[in-house]
Amino acid sequence: MVKKKSKVGGRKKNTPPTPHRTGVTPPKLDAKQIPNHVALVMDGNGRWAKQRGLARTAGHEAGEASLLDMVHGAIEIGVKELSAYAFSTENWRRSPEEVKFLMEFNRQVLRKRRDEMNDLGVKIRWVGREKRLWSGVLKELKEAQELTKNNKVLTLNMCVNYGGRAEMLDAAVAIAKDALKKKIKPDSLSEKSLNKYLYAPQMRDVDLFLRSSGEQRTSNFLMWQSAYAEMVFLDVLWPDADRRTLWKAIEIYAERERRFGKA
Ligand code: IPE
Ligand code: IPE
Ligand code: MG
Repeated sequence: MVKKKSKVGGRKKNTPPTPHRTGVTPPKLDAKQIPNHVALVMDGNGRWAKQRGLARTAGHEAGEASLLDMVHGAIEIGVKELSAYAFSTENWRRSPEEVKFLMEFNRQVLRKRRDEMNDLGVKIRWVGREKRLWSGVLKELKEAQELTKNNKVLTLNMCVNYGGRAEMLDAAVAIAKDALKKKIKPDSLSEKSLNKYLYAPQMRDVDLFLRSSGEQRTSNFLMWQSAYAEMVFLDVLWPDADRRTLWKAIEIYAERERRFGKA
């Protein structure tokens, strides 16, 4: 019988993350200063391309390496969950050409990178709305999810066709239907039980919300989950970002005092 590669005693052995090309190592911080869940608004691809006289799509292509590097860096520093905003429910407003490119691009990246992610022990999870999402992308997302479902090192939420308001609306509709079917009592609904109606009920609350490109807004990303997130906006365009950008944001996060309403 052929022994399965990367399995030891029936358990999967994860490949360690690849160090950054400069050899730089993560900042020394206490475990409690490391955010468990980091939300990434990967913004600035178009501006990056424009600065170089390239088509906007070249910026999206260049951004692939940034996310990959951040996954390695997140594992190195001990982040448990990363949520990457890859396509918002509002991004359908872009030109048909750019929408087509982004759909095809997301599909290809998932196909090309899923084995590397699997070897690292990354659990890929799709977070978003099914309606309107291209079936080829959905298929690829589900395959990557299936392949990596037992992994434990890091959860990578691929937020494709995601919008915070869409998520709340879809939850409201599902709750109303369950109430009509007498499956739930409206008065006994709690924050915890509402959570079960979100796209990914297992998702942790966001600790650190990081946006590149200098824009200071959430653009409808993880609004429920980020209610108490620390916001960090960095002046770097997404294709220029890498694990060092993530670590810098974590150092800023480590300096913050989180109160959660307490005095
Ligand atoms: C982010 O970069 C990528 C997606 C929204 C898919 P943009 O395409 O928004 O780049 P800018 O903001 O125009 O520079
Ligand atoms: C947010 O960026 C969405 C993603 C990164 C996928 P946008 O570039 O779409 O957001 P706005 O339009 O500047 O708010
Ligand atoms: Mg943008």
